[in-house]
Amino acid sequence: MAIGVGLLGLGTVGAGVAAILMGPGGRHPLVGELALRKVAVRDPARARPLDLDPQLLTTSPEDVIDDPAVEIVVEVMGGLEPARSLILRAIAAGKPVVTANKAVIARHGEEIAAAAAARGVYVLIEAAVGGGIPIIEPLKQSLGGNRIQRVSGIINGTTNYILSRMADEGAAYGDVLADAQRLGYAEADPAADVEGHDAADKIAILAGLAYGGPVERAAIATEGIDRLQAGDVAYAAQLGYVVKLLAVAQREGEGEPLPLDVRVHPTLLPKHHPLAGVHGVNNAILVEGDPVGRVMFYGPGAGAGPTASAVVADILNIAGIRQVGGAEAGLDPLLAASSWRRCALVDGSSSRHRNYVRLHTRDEAGVIGRIGSCFGEAGVSIQSIVQFPAQGDGETPAGAAAGPASEPAAEIVVITHEVQESHFRQALAAIEALADVKAIAACLRTL
Ligand SMILES: NC(=O)c1ccc[n+]([C@@H]2O[C@H](COP(=O)([O-])OP(=O)(O)OC[C@H]3O[C@@H](n4cnc5c(N)ncnc54)[C@H](OP(=O)(O)O)[C@@H]3O)[C@@H](O)[C@H]2O)c1
Repeated sequence: MAIGVGLLGLGTVGAGVAAILMGPGGRHPLVGELALRKVAVRDPARARPLDLDPQLLTTSPEDVIDDPAVEIVVEVMGGLEPARSLILRAIAAGKPVVTANKAVIARHGEEIAAAAAARGVYVLIEAAVGGGIPIIEPLKQSLGGNRIQRVSGIINGTTNYILSRMADEGAAYGDVLADAQRLGYAEADPAADVEGHDAADKIAILAGLAYGGPVERAAIATEGIDRLQAGDVAYAAQLGYVVKLLAVAQREGEGEPLPLDVRVHPTLLPKHHPLAGVHGVNNAILVEGDPVGRVMFYGPGAGAGPTASAVVADILNIAGIRQVGGAEAGLDPLLAASSWRRCALVDGSSSRHRNYVRLHTRDEAGVIGRIGSCFGEAGVSIQSIVQFPAQGDGETPAGAAAGPASEPAAEIVVITHEVQESHFRQALAAIEALADVKAIAACLRTL
């Protein structure tokens, strides 16, 4: 007997899902059991890339949810509202939901999960992180026997595309962004991507699954690539690193609530690091667990086909359970990803990591020694310290003392060993007070 599917949205992802449901040949036989019953859109007159019966379209998402022939609701319309309310409406009607909406899940996941658990229905979210990469189900199920130490990922394709081109071509951030917008790789309003908010939504979701309890989305330290300068990408390359926008969720100890450090920021990765070779719009997530070790998931992080692949996988999971009458037996705690502990984000000042610092200085004898002393007195050990001639490319940040045009200037790039954040900040304060130092021009984390 066919299983009725209702779509809320027929845009990039919705059309990709409909295309799979309308062409089941060569796929798992269960795909052929899925029947598209109703589809909500804003504008039924809009041209679509597929030949769908116009009778299926409605402008009322509520009609899709309330239709008795719709047994599984697929939310692929995006945005916070009405998406959140519609998901809750479907749950209240006892209908399982599949969604690709990371913004809603990162902010309202707890409310949605509680409603779903109370009503005994699944809300599955494989497409919300990493597009076509299976990462949600592995975290919930395949890696369930592990104690997860760290989840780190390149989970925003737009920024990875921009960073890849900055590294390959030595191009400036603004120029590559404009090009990415022209080519359709970046939105007209790129803020969610380039300021790191999209990656923060996604790492909030991954952390919640990896560590068994929700994390507070608003408390995730988030820095994007919008202030990254081409010079730092070039220096990083000379020193054997690539710059990536990394989202990281890391266990910082034991106990209840479990202390976690969760953050998003541009990061220098050694060229041999597994995530360093992830180029263009691709995504990758590296999971480090005990006892499995390192497992990496790699692939297309967005797009109609890859994202629809993940959505349909979730629909099939629900359809499979329905076929064996499993809905009556209650929810599988692994597939439902029931929370089993509390997590708390730690204050970053106690976390330990390596750093890259670029200083704009006078080109005078002894400068490097004085900077080295500031680091030493704060207990920060240095891995490398290199002086470059000043670039003179207008990249001196706002607020930096420009100095007379003829004054010899230099750029000093320091990479530290792993140090406590508070010690590092103490060293920077001392360096900033040195008369030779015109500005701390850039400061990036380093793996
Ligand atoms: N695009 C990707 O590669 C990708 C990857 C991973 C996750 N996602 C997530 O998937 C979701 C959908 O993304 P998308 O790129 O497919 O978006 P999209 O192309 O903008 O499509 C949105 C669809 O929802 C419909 N819609 C929006 N508001 C509506 C309303 N109030 N009532 C009825 N219909 C409404 C639109 O109707 P019209 O067609 O008539 O305008 C459109 O069909 C988002 O949550 C996104 O974050 C997308």
